[in-house]
Amino acid sequence: MLQCMKSGMNDQAVAQRVLDHIANGTTDVGDVVWREPVANYLSAERLQAEVACVLRRTPTPFCPSAALPEIGSYVAREVAGIPLVVVRGNDGQVRAFRNACRHRGMQVASGTGCARALVCRYHGWTYNLEGRLRHIPHEAGFPGFDKEAHPLVPVAATERFGLVFVTQDEPALGDDSLGGLERLIAPDQRLFATGERDFEVNWKIFLESFIEGYHIKSTHPESFLPYGFDNLNVIDLFGRNSRVTYPFQRIRKLAKVAPAERRVEGLLTYVYHLFPNVLVTVLSRHTNVVILEPLGVDRTRQFTYTLTNGGGDDPEALAEARRDAEFVGNTGALEDRAVVHAIQRGLASGANEAFTFGRYESAIAHFHQTLTAALS
Ligand code: FES
Ligand SMILES: [Fe+2]
Repeated sequence: MLQCMKSGMNDQAVAQRVLDHIANGTTDVGDVVWREPVANYLSAERLQAEVACVLRRTPTPFCPSAALPEIGSYVAREVAGIPLVVVRGNDGQVRAFRNACRHRGMQVASGTGCARALVCRYHGWTYNLEGRLRHIPHEAGFPGFDKEAHPLVPVAATERFGLVFVTQDEPALGDDSLGGLERLIAPDQRLFATGERDFEVNWKIFLESFIEGYHIKSTHPESFLPYGFDNLNVIDLFGRNSRVTYPFQRIRKLAKVAPAERRVEGLLTYVYHLFPNVLVTVLSRHTNVVILEPLGVDRTRQFTYTLTNGGGDDPEALAEARRDAEFVGNTGALEDRAVVHAIQRGLASGANEAFTFGRYESAIAHFHQTLTAALS
């Protein structure tokens, strides 16, 4: 479908493609120009379908495994509008539950923490880490109530590639959704910051801003462009997911290194789009897991998990990661945010019936094609 489509995640192959593009003045191009109706960003019915038919029916990254480091670690938040809690059990397995007490529906956990059991704070019903209801205060008041039959309601959860995925309802597109991916987050990457923030932007407009490099020169002339290139990207598709590679100028030095010896760390940024609404951005010294939770047609909650790129507990790796995250957060990320807010305001202008995504924006075209297929 796209001529840039390649398989595998091999760094050396990416480095060669980048060096070839530098030498030839080229970039990866897709073979489709995609027209996405602007109505699809404005329609409440469309959003409802995206949430119910796609977000709840796709294995969706919930958090990095590093956010659940020990037995009893939990993270509670809404996913596609449904409150969930994900907890690491006594056997080390990660489990997800609908975050609603089986007494009268109160949430049994909020935010993040570590606990030996999940205790509902309304009346104290207590669930073990495997979700079984273990204790009802003054149980005599519930004659005949079967505790075994009232565990927390489970949701499918799996840990892969250093991430925890949850699937609330039967998958919409079969189960090959994670094919072709390999480990995204390694055990020696340390989680050092988390964030949660609301934006007055449709989730897809936000998402689109991450997965094309055609805008780098115009939008980021002083932040990213001096280190990078104008419109030079490598784009890989993995099933419904994709990865856009943004090389830095300093990758040129690899031309003198034997292909098999080439190491790309610190020489490029990888932006993985994990369909539908998650990005894993591997920057020079830090990695962000960004989850875009739609709250409305024009509102998105962004959850961010920021990790080092490795080095275990080495304080220098952590200091470098913090510096890198601060630089990106205070420059390029602000520039992208200004753009997506402006686009959101412009939707109401009626100027466009559709947005046009050209051949340099093929990861976005792939996203819309996949989303359209999942909805039909
Ligand atoms: S609602 Fe949870 S104990 Fe009553
Ligand atoms: Fe950008």
